[in-house]
Amino acid sequence: MLGLQHLVCPFAYSWRRCMARSKTVFVCESCGATHPKWAGQCGDCGAWNTLVESVPAAPAKPGATAPASFSDHAPRVERLNAITPSETARTPTGLSELDRVLGGGLVAGSVILIGGDPGIGKSTLLLQVLAQLSAGIPALYVTGEESLEQVQLRAQRLGVADAELAVLAETCVERVLALAKPQAPRLVVIDSVQTVFSQALTSAPGSVSQVRESASMLVRFAKATGTALILVGHVTKEGTIAGPRVLEHMVDTVLYFEAEASSRFRVIRAVKNRFGAVNEIGVFAMSGTGLKQVTNPSAIFLSRHETAVPGSAVMVTREGSRPMLVEVQALVDGSQLHNPRRVALGPDSQRLAMLLAVLHRHGGIALGDQDVFVNVVGGMRVSETAADLAVVMATLSSFRDKPLGERLVVFGEIGLAGEIRPVPGGEDRLAEAAKHGFTRAIVPKANAPRNGRVGDLEVVGVARLDEAIGAVR
Ligand code: TYD
Ligand code: MG
Repeated sequence: MLGLQHLVCPFAYSWRRCMARSKTVFVCESCGATHPKWAGQCGDCGAWNTLVESVPAAPAKPGATAPASFSDHAPRVERLNAITPSETARTPTGLSELDRVLGGGLVAGSVILIGGDPGIGKSTLLLQVLAQLSAGIPALYVTGEESLEQVQLRAQRLGVADAELAVLAETCVERVLALAKPQAPRLVVIDSVQTVFSQALTSAPGSVSQVRESASMLVRFAKATGTALILVGHVTKEGTIAGPRVLEHMVDTVLYFEAEASSRFRVIRAVKNRFGAVNEIGVFAMSGTGLKQVTNPSAIFLSRHETAVPGSAVMVTREGSRPMLVEVQALVDGSQLHNPRRVALGPDSQRLAMLLAVLHRHGGIALGDQDVFVNVVGGMRVSETAADLAVVMATLSSFRDKPLGERLVVFGEIGLAGEIRPVPGGEDRLAEAAKHGFTRAIVPKANAPRNGRVGDLEVVGVARLDEAIGAVR
C-alpha cells in the first residue's frame, strides 16, 4: 500500500520541476553561485546581502545556430591592420554643449546613461533634445515617472508643445519594446531606468536585479536595431541599492549631471565614453523655460569686481579639453580657536592644509594662528593640482590684505619641496587667459613660452614658491 509520502512526493516533484523552468534564481554578486531561494547569506562564499534575483540562462539547444540578427556578422579572426573602421555617423542633438560631452553627437546603436540627483533637470534636457530631434528623425520618449499630461505641461513650458514626438507612459519593458518596434525609432529615451521592470522577475522595480535585467533587454534592443538609447538614472543616496552605478559597465557612455544646491548652473560631465573623451563638460543654466546652453562658462565662474580685491586669485582650470577661468577666493582671519579652521569649498581641504605647511616652510609665512577659508566662485569643483598656486596666492593676498594686481592669472602645482611643477595643457590655459583680456600670468617655468608672451599676455615662469611670491610684488 502506498503511504502518504508516496502520494505527495511524486506530485511535489513534478510541480517543482515545472516551476523550475520559469522560476528565477538568486545569484551571489560576490562569488557567482546560484541559489534557488533568497537568503541573507550566500551559502557558498558566506558573503552577506549579495544575492540578487536573476533569470537563469536558457540551456543551449543542441545544433542551435547563432541568432538571425547576428548571422551575417559571423565572427572571424582578422588582422588588426586589415580592419577599416566605418565612419561613425553622428546625429547632432541640436545643443552643442551636449554634443561636446557626447564626443560630437549621438552614435547609432549607442547606449547613454544620464545620471544625476532628482530634480536636477534630466527630464527637462531630454524633452528639449527630443522635441528638436523629432522634426528630423523618429524618436520615442518613454516616461515611467510622469503621466502624458505632465509631459505635455512640461513641453508647453519649454515651448515645444507642438513637437511630432512619440511619447509613451509605460513601465513594463516587454510592453515598451513591443510598442517601440513597429515605430522603428532612431532614438529612444527611458525616463527613468529605476521605474521600469521586466515581467521575468518578481522583484520590485528599482531593485538591482530589475534595473540590470530591464536595462540589458533595452541595450540588446538598441544594439540589434541600431537605435540610440538614452537611459535616465537617479543617483541614489548611499544605502539605496540600485543606483545607475550597476549599469555603468553595460553602456557606452555615462554622463553625470552636477550642480550646487543653490546654483542655477548645471554641469554635465562625461565619466565614461566609448565614442569620445572623458571628463569633457557641458555647461547649462536652468531658466524659466528650460535649460539654456552656456557656451562661454569662463564668464559665469568669475565674479565681477570693479577693481582687484584682497584674497582673490583667478586661475585657468581645465575640464576635459576645455580651459576655463575660475576665481579662487580666500579669507584669512585671526582665529579664536585652539585648532584654527582650514575650510576649503571647491578644492580639497587636506590639500589646503598641505599647501599652508609648504607656504610656511618654503615661503616663510606662518598662518598657524589664523583661520583659513578657501572657496571657488560659482560652486565649481576644482580638484586638479593646478589650483595649488592660485590657492596659495589668494591666501597670501588675504593675509596681507593686498590685492594681487588686476588682470592677473596664476596656475601651477606646488610640490612639498616648494617647487612649482608644470601642469598639462599650459598653452591652452594661457590662450584662454589672453582671450579674456588678462595681461599677466604667473605659471610654472616649464609651462611658460620662451619669449614670455602670449598675445598681450605677459607670462612669468617661476620654478619655486618664493619666486612666485616675489613675482606678485
Ligand atoms: P526635472 O527635469 O524634472 O528633473 P529630473 O528629471 O532630473 O528629476 O527638473 C525639474 C526642476 O527644474 C524643477 O525643480 C523645476 C525646474 N524647472 C525650471 O526651473 N524651468 C523649467 O523650464 C522646467 C521645465 C523645470
Ligand atoms: Mg525626471
